[in-house]
Amino acid sequence: MNSSLAPASLRLRIGDVELANPIFIAPMAGITDRPFRSLARELGAGLTCTEMTAAAALVRAPEEALDRVLDLDPNEGPVAAQLVGSDPAMMAAAAQICVARGADLVDVNLGCPVPKVVRLGSGAALAREIDRTVRVLEAMVQAVPVPVTAKMRLGWDHSSINAPELARALEAVGVAAVTVHGRTRCQKYTGWADWDEIARVKDAVRGIPVLGSGDVRDPVLVERRIRAGAVDGVVLARGILGDWNLLDQTVRQLRDGDPGPDPRFSDRLLLAKDHWDRMVEFHGQRYGVRLARKFVVWAIKGCSGAARLRARVATLERAADLDEIYAEILAAGEGPTGWHRPSFTSGEG
Ligand SMILES: Cc1cc2nc3c(=O)[nH]c(=O)nc-3n(C[C@H](O)[C@H](O)[C@H](O)COP(=O)(O)O)c2cc1C
Repeated sequence: MNSSLAPASLRLRIGDVELANPIFIAPMAGITDRPFRSLARELGAGLTCTEMTAAAALVRAPEEALDRVLDLDPNEGPVAAQLVGSDPAMMAAAAQICVARGADLVDVNLGCPVPKVVRLGSGAALAREIDRTVRVLEAMVQAVPVPVTAKMRLGWDHSSINAPELARALEAVGVAAVTVHGRTRCQKYTGWADWDEIARVKDAVRGIPVLGSGDVRDPVLVERRIRAGAVDGVVLARGILGDWNLLDQTVRQLRDGDPGPDPRFSDRLLLAKDHWDRMVEFHGQRYGVRLARKFVVWAIKGCSGAARLRARVATLERAADLDEIYAEILAAGEGPTGWHRPSFTSGEG
C-alpha cells in the first residue's frame, strides 16, 4: 500500500484559496524575487512569497516605481505578498496595493530580528505586543478580500514564548493561517528550530492552518510531521538554496510516498543554471549576473576545486561568464566530501 497522504489531503485551503499542496517557499529578502518564485512554482511549490516589503515604502511609492518596490506578476499564480510595518492604517493601505497588483494572499512579517526593523516596532518587536499586533492584522483583514496570514517566531526569547497565544488572538480577528519559525528572535538563525513548540501553536488554534518553518531539509520528516498532525504544511527556506531538488523531492514524497532517486550532481546544477538564466532574463545581463553570483557560490559547494572556482565568481559580469562557469563546475564534478547545504547567520524573518 502506498504510504503517501491521500491526494485529496495534499491540498491545503487558506481562507478561500485552494493550494495544490502544503509545501511553501519562505519569504527570503534578497532571494525570493520573481525568477526564484517562477522556478519554485514550476517545481511544484504550493505557494510562494515575495521578499518582505515595507508597507510605508509601498504606500509612498509613485505609481511608476511600484514594480520596483513589489515585483509581483499579476499572472504568476498562487503567491503571497509579505509586508512589514506596525501602523494599522498603513498596513491596510499597503495590503490593498498588494491585492490590486495580483497578490492572492497578504502575509505579515512578525519575525524579522534585524535591529533596523525592530527599532521601528515592526517584525519580531511587534509580535511582543499581542494587542498591537491584533489591531494591525484586524485592520488588514477588514481592508482586503483575500486571506491575510502572519509569520511569527516562537517569541522574543525563551523566557517569553508567546506564539500559541499570539496565533490564537490573530485567528479570532480573521487571520487565515500562521507560519511559525521555530526559533526565537534572540536566536536569529542559530541553533535548531524547535518543532515541539511549533506543534503547540497547532494545538492552540481552533482550526486555521499552521505551517512550520526552520531546518526543513528532510522530505520523509516533512511527511511524518504532517501525517502526525503537528503542522498542516511546511515552509522551505535555506534548505533549497543551491539545492532545488529538495523542493522537488519533498513534493514527490507527499504525492507518491517516496522522494524519488537522489539527484545527481548534474541534476542539481541543471536547476541552478535554469535559475541563473531566469535571473538574467528578468533583471537584464548586468544586474542579473550580479544577483546570480551568490547562487553560483552555493552551487559550487561540494564541487571539486570549489575554492579555485569561487575566486572567479566575484568577477562574473556577463551571461556568457555564467555559461562558462556552469560548464567548468559540471566538468569539475562533485568533490570527495560531496554536497553540504549552506549556512547563514542573518536574514530578515
Ligand atoms: C536570507 C534570508 C532572508 C530571509 N528573509 C525573510 C523575510 O523577508 N521575511 C520572513 O518572514 N522571513 C525571512 N527569512 C526567514 C525564513 O523565511 C525562514 O523562516 C528561516 O530562514 C527559517 O528557516 P530555515 O532554517 O529553513 O532557513 C529569511 C531567511 C533568510 C536565510
